Formats: sequence, structure tokens, C-alpha cells
Amino acid sequence: TDPAIIRNFCIIAHIDHGKSTLADRMLQLTGVVSSRDMKAQYLDRMDIERERGITIKSQAVRMPWELDGVSYALNMIDTPGHVDFTYEVSRSLAACEGAILLVDAAQGIEAQTLANLYLAMENDMTIIPVLNKIDLPNADPEKYAAEIAKLIGCEPEDILQVSGKTGMGVEALLDKVVSELPAPQGDPNAPARAMIFDSVYDTYRGVVTYVRVVDGKISPREKVQMMSTGTTYELLEIGVSSPEPKPSKGLGVGEVGYLITGVKDVRQSKVGDTVTNFAKPAAESLGGYEDPKPMVFSGLYPIDGSDYPALRDALDKLQLNDAALTYVPETSVALGFGFRVGFLGLLHLEITRERLEAEFNLDLISTAPNVVYEVMTDDKVLRTVTNPSEFPDGKILEVHEPMVAATILAPNEFVGAIMELCQARRGTMRGMDYLSEERVEIRYWLPLAEIVFDFFDILKSKTRGYASLDWKADGEQVSDLVKVDILLQSEQVDAFSAVTHRDKAYAYGLMMTQKLRELIPRQQFEVPIQAAIGSRIIARESIRAIRKDVLAKCYGGDISRKRKLLEKQKAGKKRMKMVGRVEVPQEAFIVALSSD
Ligand code: GTP
Repeated sequence: TDPAIIRNFCIIAHIDHGKSTLADRMLQLTGVVSSRDMKAQYLDRMDIERERGITIKSQAVRMPWELDGVSYALNMIDTPGHVDFTYEVSRSLAACEGAILLVDAAQGIEAQTLANLYLAMENDMTIIPVLNKIDLPNADPEKYAAEIAKLIGCEPEDILQVSGKTGMGVEALLDKVVSELPAPQGDPNAPARAMIFDSVYDTYRGVVTYVRVVDGKISPREKVQMMSTGTTYELLEIGVSSPEPKPSKGLGVGEVGYLITGVKDVRQSKVGDTVTNFAKPAAESLGGYEDPKPMVFSGLYPIDGSDYPALRDALDKLQLNDAALTYVPETSVALGFGFRVGFLGLLHLEITRERLEAEFNLDLISTAPNVVYEVMTDDKVLRTVTNPSEFPDGKILEVHEPMVAATILAPNEFVGAIMELCQARRGTMRGMDYLSEERVEIRYWLPLAEIVFDFFDILKSKTRGYASLDWKADGEQVSDLVKVDILLQSEQVDAFSAVTHRDKAYAYGLMMTQKLRELIPRQQFEVPIQAAIGSRIIARESIRAIRKDVLAKCYGGDISRKRKLLEKQKAGKKRMKMVGRVEVPQEAFIVALSSD
């Protein structure tokens, strides 16, 4: 295809601002999907995908569109929708010349959309601002047009008003994609360079890799090389999705399509990597490649210890489709055999946990999420700690913790409450801008550890749901961090160890000791529960002794009933974990580890 007639674009939008609906409407208007076949949210239909065993959830769709008698090929590239996947978003943007900035005309722009908009502007992409859902009675296009105009420096009149639902304005939007976006540029005679912007595992076809060709050409049957690792593969199939995958004879400059190499694991076909021709390799890879870096760690343990092999298999399977997921086996005195699993963020953790439970039928206990610490002890060596219980004891010279640059958008009446929250979370204010008279953008530098847990929930409740948050990794700082251990009868319960700022250690210790006093049943002896920093006890509770006598309830008499009760108690005991001499019901761990 002649690059002059190609237009590559993506849609930047907040969740629920109508991206899928608009994409559907475009597929329909361009005739790629007939109205009859048009099922709501075509691009997102996981069930169809399973039914047919092909990847319909297209990461890129090609659509024909005609303007002034010329037929164009539009490639719409999907961007992942949530905050943990900033890097993937950046690669999707890098595959496009332009972006549609889609904003709900009743809501206005949100923090994540703003962050992605800035990213697109930094990459010199053409931005087409669009207000969506203008059919809504409470839409306020004037107000939000002014906001957007100020952000990107255009006239409010230049902002298109559309409704993905009714189809209004969508044809004009497609015209604008053609007329405003530049055609892709590249050297057709140079060695091939294609950027991977997505990579998905398909049960039937193995990994399907989505690429944007920058220079040269790639063809079926040729041998290609991944530039980050040097591994080579034969291209079994090349094609474009529109939206069903269609094999093609090759992809040239500016084209977007998929590759199939028979690879079984997305880690061998990494997002951001450059694909080149093995026989005639490019000298330099395309910039911007990064290895996925887990930011948040949690221990995952099967509730039923015999599920351990099943958990391992499930993680192996998930990893085929998730290059960012990492895990190593670990054992906990309290929880048994499990894994320390690394995630990009809290949402990534939640999604993974949900999938393990729903798709693999596993019941899991997860330890409180923690970030990665770099700890320097007497020997002056920085050690990476991903499990709080492995935080070194003894003399510590320095602890480094990861930091994030956070952006919060909210109505200005909440500025005070937001600043208070960020301050309490050890944040440093970096700036504040008014988007309009009513809405502000607040920027903070915050420890990641302070936002991974419940920050977003509290932010939402303090702003009656109006605030939105975006963050990205931004360096590290040296902080006064300590490990707090929880002891039952002087035995350390490893699953409850936490690394906190020294000022917050006491609050954590108090909270955990009190929680456990409520959760652990009385034993035959008194059980002290303590929180400690090293050998210093900072909080203490105790569970009074009781003589447990299950038979007392039976008022004597009936032997078979007594036997039943005894058996029941035995079964119940299986779900007890021993910490030293103390019996702890598994429930107690689950409840104590969950955030309230
Ligand atoms: P995610 O898939 O969750 O990221 O959301 P999305 O941005 O793709 O939004 P989606 O298209 O699923 O739309 C979100 C909601 O808004 C749905 O209930 C849609 O029916 C509704 N919606 C989308 N576009 C319009 C529109 O133009 N007008 C009206 N009134 N509702 C719309």
C-alpha cells in the first residue's frame, strides 16, 4: 500500500467516555462490519473470541474510507485503558501519527486522559479533539470545549462534537482523520524495522504480534530477528485485521498488521521491541524499548495447600499472555508454599487475582501489596527487597523507595482535601494549574508505597467521586523506613511483616495487634500479640487463655452426637495453621490481610 493513503490513529479516552461505542460506529460506517453483524462493542467481545478461537479483540483494525474521490486505509490502534499500562499506551501511541482525544461532553477530561494527551503531544502527534455523547441532556460542550482548547491550544470551535451512540458527527470525524493526520513516512528501501505495539497469546495460533512497519518491508516466510534479544523466527503468516485476520503478501512502510511466528510465549515477542530482517538487519533499533518492570509485589498462596501445583500451572499459563507478570516460589511459615508475584500496579494485581480465581478455580490468600526497596546495610551493598519479611535486620544505612509523579484532576472545591491527603501520604507538591475556573490539575511527587494500597479509594471518597488520578514511576528517594514484625507468643508471623515509614510504624503495629486479638480464638494458654521493630516492642495485646471444651455443649448423653462433633472439630483443625504453639484459623489470616 502506498504510504500516502495510510492514516494511523488511536483513540485516547477515559474509561466509559465511549471509546468502544465510537470504534464500533466507525467499523460500521466504513463497512468493515455490516450493521447486521454489528454486535455491541465488537472490539471488546471476549466471548466471540473464545467461540471462534481467533483473536477478534483486534489490537488494530484496518478500515477503508473515501475522501474527495481517493480511497484511504485507516488503521485504528487500540490503547489499553488503565493506569498500570502506561508503557503499553506509549507504544500504541508511538505506532500512530495522530490521536483522537475523546472526552465525554458531560464529564470533561480526566487525569489519565490528560497524561496520555501530554504523552501524545510530547511525541509531536497530531491531536484531533472530540467531545462525545453530545446527545446527552446534561452534556455541556461549551464548558468542556473551553477546557480542552486551553490544554491543547486550539479554538473551541475546532473541537468536533459527536455521538458514538447516534452516529452524529462520526463521518465528519473520519474525514478529519484523513485530512489532518500526516501520512506515515519511512524509507521503503532501508532494512526492515517494525515496532511491536502489542502481543497477544492465542490458544490456537500461538502469539499474535501486532506491528507497525517504519522502514522497509516484511514478507511471509522470511526470517526475522527481534532486536532486543537477537532471537530469530520464521514468519509463518503476516496479515491485517479488518477486523477478521486476513493474510497478506507483506507489510510495507506505514502499514499496521499482525505477525505469527509460532512463538508460544509473549515474552519472546515483547511490546516495544523492533523486528528486523535477519538477512539484512537494521543497524539501529527503533527507540523507546523498555523491559516491563514490576512495581508492586504480593505473596499469593493457595488456601488449600494441595492446590500449589495448580497455582504454578495457572501462573505459567497467564504469563504466556502477560509479559509483565513475574513470580518466584516462596514459603511462608504462616501460609505455606506459594509465590511472590510482581505486578505493574494494583489493578494489574487485582485483574490477575480475579483471573486466577475465576478461570482457574483457585482460592487464594494474598499478602498486603508492597513495593520494591533497595536496602544498604553495613557492607555498603544495595540489596533489592521484594518481600518485607526479608528486609534485613540489624544496622541499616540507607533505604531507597520508589517514587511516582501523580496527577490529580478535580473540582477546585476539593483542593484542600486533596492536599491534606497527599501531605499525609508524604507527598511533595509539584504544581497546580487551573483547567478552567472550576477544575484544577494538582501534581504531587509521592512514594509509590503510599498510593498502592487505598489511596485512590480515599481520594474518591474525599472528593465525592469527582477526582481522577494518574501516576507514573518517577525515581526514588532515601527514606526513614523500618520493618514492623508481628509476633504471636514471640514467634514472628512472616506474612504480617510490613515496611513502613518510621512515623507510621506504631499505627500499623497497633492496627495489626488489635485486628489479630479479635480474629484469633482463645487458646489453652495466654497468647501475647506484639508488634516490634527489631527487638523493640511497639505495641502489645493479648488473648486470654481458655479451656476449650467442645463437649460441654452436648449436655452429656448422646454418644454419636459427641463423636460427630469431635470429627467436625478435626476437619476444622485442618484449616488451622500453627504459628509456634498457637493455632490460627486460616480465616484470621485472610481477614487480617485484607484492607478494610
Ligand atoms: P471501556 O470499554 O470501559 O473503556 O469504556 P469505553 O470508553 O469503551 O465506553 P463505552 O463505549 O463502553 O461506553 C460507555 C457507556 O457510555 C456505555 O453505557 C455506552 O452506551 C455509553 N455511550 C457511549 N457513547 C455514547 C454516546 O454518544 N451517547 C450516549 N448517550 N451514551 C454513550
